[in-house]
Amino acid sequence: EADIKQKLPLINKKVLVTAGPTYEAIDPVRFIGNHSSGKMGFAIADELAALGADVTLVAGPTAQQSRQRGIRRIDVTSAADMLRECLANFDSADGCIMSSAVADYTPVEVSTQKIKKQDGGLSIELKKTTDILKTLGQQKRAGQVLVGFALETNNEEEYAIAKLKSKNLDMIVLNSLNDAGAGFKGDTNKITMIDSALVKTTFGLKNKNEVARDICAKFIQLLKP
Ligand code: CTP
Ligand code: CA
Repeated sequence: EADIKQKLPLINKKVLVTAGPTYEAIDPVRFIGNHSSGKMGFAIADELAALGADVTLVAGPTAQQSRQRGIRRIDVTSAADMLRECLANFDSADGCIMSSAVADYTPVEVSTQKIKKQDGGLSIELKKTTDILKTLGQQKRAGQVLVGFALETNNEEEYAIAKLKSKNLDMIVLNSLNDAGAGFKGDTNKITMIDSALVKTTFGLKNKNEVARDICAKFIQLLKP
């Protein structure tokens, strides 16, 4: 028993992970999206599964594939879809790592037919999406661990800490877009983890699988009573 816990510290733990972008439809052929590859979230899901966790992975449109077996994958397209699946799976989870790049805005109306181009420009009215992570933060029970990401270009730590607090997180992973090689398209990331006690840990530029290992090691610590 003690041996299993050492090798598989997340055995019997259910973890919800989100990954990838969301696509917000404009019409049947066009959408608003972002550059998220999904690599970070898939690496986290693989690492959690390797540590013994029962993983549910809610994935936006991505070409990624899980390398670990037994990950329950739910494919979604829009921010509204992702919200629905997160709400359906958060309550029974011991924790959630929200690494998806959720669209902040979505078209007010989706045209049922392809919008034909005309002379002049085109304006599309957008409305805010629901903040999924903030919604989960409001529903969080004692003992549940909630981890978010922050993507910033400036005032990084100040903005990340504001998100940590306003979304009721146990940890935020700050992704530096400033450093060459870091960001959500490539294979590497440079992160700073900030926990709810505002303890900061900064890491060097690493492969996303190694970054996932660092994040999951901290996640295990946060899960401990
Ligand atoms: N997030 C979310 N739902 C949204 C927008 C963001 O759950 N509608 C989550 C992201 O998955 C991430 C965290 O919130 O874990 C922070 O996302 P980020 O885009 O950095 O911050 P925002 O709060 O959206 O603020 P802004 O984009 O203005 O910096
Ligand atoms: Ca955002």
